[in-house]
Amino acid sequence: MQLQARMQVRPAGPRRAGPAPVRAMAGSRFADVAQAPPDPILGVSEAFKACTDPNKLNLGVGAYRDEQLKPVVLSVVKKAESKIFARNENKEYLTIEGLDGFRKATVDLLLGGDHPAIKEGRVAVVQSLSGTGSLRVGAAFIARFMKGSTVYLSNPTWGNHRNIFGDEGVEWKYYRYFDADTVGLDFKGMVEDLKAAPPGSVVVLHGCAHNPTGIDPTKEQWASIADLCKERDLMPFFDVAYQGFATGDLDKDAFAPRLFVEKGLEIMVSQSYSKNLGLYGERVGALVMVLNDKEAATRCLSQLKRLARALYSNPPTHGARIAAEVVNDKELFEEWKGEMRGMAGRIERVRGELQRALEKKYPSKDWSFITKQIGMFSFTGLTPVQVDNMTNKHAIFMTRDGRISLAGLNSAKVEYLADAIVDSVRNH
Ligand SMILES: Cc1ncc(COP(=O)(O)O)c(C=O)c1O
Repeated sequence: MQLQARMQVRPAGPRRAGPAPVRAMAGSRFADVAQAPPDPILGVSEAFKACTDPNKLNLGVGAYRDEQLKPVVLSVVKKAESKIFARNENKEYLTIEGLDGFRKATVDLLLGGDHPAIKEGRVAVVQSLSGTGSLRVGAAFIARFMKGSTVYLSNPTWGNHRNIFGDEGVEWKYYRYFDADTVGLDFKGMVEDLKAAPPGSVVVLHGCAHNPTGIDPTKEQWASIADLCKERDLMPFFDVAYQGFATGDLDKDAFAPRLFVEKGLEIMVSQSYSKNLGLYGERVGALVMVLNDKEAATRCLSQLKRLARALYSNPPTHGARIAAEVVNDKELFEEWKGEMRGMAGRIERVRGELQRALEKKYPSKDWSFITKQIGMFSFTGLTPVQVDNMTNKHAIFMTRDGRISLAGLNSAKVEYLADAIVDSVRNH
């Protein structure tokens, strides 16, 4: 529209020499750009901020809160920062692949230190912009070097997966994951769908604490998925955003990617320190490729760098220094593990409290799924209409898929939340 309006004011007849006269334009050349929908997760936080109800509760975003529902800066992060400030380091650019100490720390966390793949130089790692940016670098790599491959996402999954792969022009499809009847894993459906995926497809797997369902495969099921990936020549891409948050133990939560590597599979992994180190806004993470061949790893790293250079040039320094300081320092590392257990433990406690409150208020319904699920979230099974009631009537903000972040709940609010859930389930 705007372009047409501009074309109409061009004078008729032969062009005169010299620059065209500058004309004032009414409105914007972008007047026809459509309004994008609000982000389903971050949009909830915006709505929460705007709400004036004193009882309001934000269970939308997956960010840890303490018992007073305040954001937390971990004690190890403050200690690491003091050390970093004392060194008075400069703010020069990092290399494209990022801080070496951070890259080492990140791969150690993923595979366990001294892993043969590290010693044999078969791991390519680029520090990137937290989990999201790392997934995006991975998506760009798939778009360029696995042309025509389809990416399989669990149904449901973290909403941004679709955007990340879709915006890179990568075709994606769902595989079955959630069984609404059992409020558990639809393992049979998952296996059927992955068996039907063409060889060379990519399967995105949540390393632990599946978002949004909180339902992970068992160890035996992970082993079957790994075997299936091998048989069908599927490329596993692990999204590890909650290492330490599922069980409170970094090693236990890395079980699945480690098992796949042990079974000889090549894997891609996106790692994030947003949740486990509470570095949300610092954007700290990495894209890792564990391969079977050193030369391939070297070449893949060069290509990851080529992609990152064009996307954001090089990653930020501060958060990477913090993560490296914490993971590479024995004392801080132990202290971090304790703090992580504290966070995971608080979530587990409110999980139990919520289940017991619901069992008391609505005993005829089975609420046991709440403590069967793990990680930050509970997938409540509330329908979009029931979620609207939660928000509009009770000022409880959550995503419309029925997910609640238990990291945003404290003991004082358990009864209030349970009453709102019972009202929504009974009356809507
Ligand atoms: C499954 C999953 N992957 C990736 C991310 C990315 O988070 P970030 O970019 O903050 O690391 C999140 C955040 O909520 C997530 O839940």
